[in-house]
Amino acid sequence: MLRLGILVSGGGTNLQAILDELDQGVITNAAVSVVISNNSGAYALKRAEDRGIPAVCISPKCYDNREEFHKALLAELQKKQVDLVVLAGYLVPPMIVEAYPNRIINIHPSLIPSFCGTGFYGVRVHEGVLNRGVKITGATVHFVDTGTDTGPIILQKAVEVQQGDTPEVLQRRVMEEAEWKILPEAID
Ligand code: GRF
Repeated sequence: MLRLGILVSGGGTNLQAILDELDQGVITNAAVSVVISNNSGAYALKRAEDRGIPAVCISPKCYDNREEFHKALLAELQKKQVDLVVLAGYLVPPMIVEAYPNRIINIHPSLIPSFCGTGFYGVRVHEGVLNRGVKITGATVHFVDTGTDTGPIILQKAVEVQQGDTPEVLQRRVMEEAEWKILPEAID
């Protein structure tokens, strides 16, 4: 049984997809040990709390410097004996990557190697897709290394761009049709 540590910063819709698939028995080999956010207002923390899952805010504002902040994050993952770290809207520093080699996965909302790397996060990914005029986008689950979106690819799923899409409409379709499917599948 894999103990999952899920790192989030926002709404937590990917977290919700994982919880739903655990409930439905689609993910068969894992349980969530902790959900951690750097942002106390993240709705994802409430989703975890409502399920009785430990929900922890580790904010850089509470530490003297980045190193202390990163050490606190590492300590929490170790305390909860996490086997697999799942990033859903969270960037981890090299200290964490080195502590969990090939045991951190990330969901990115494009077909890597397109529209990824520094600067491509959130709605900016979808703005890039629409500005370039590509007709197919999607999402990627990959292992995390010390680069940005450079680790080995685990799963990808394509999504069609439609006439008249706004970045927000496309973002939602990529989540519904790709992210919420391949992240739970990759964990399993
Ligand atoms: C997702 O779009 C994911 O691809 C990106 O961060 C976002 C997190 O959204 N890495 P949510 O908090 O899971 O709703």
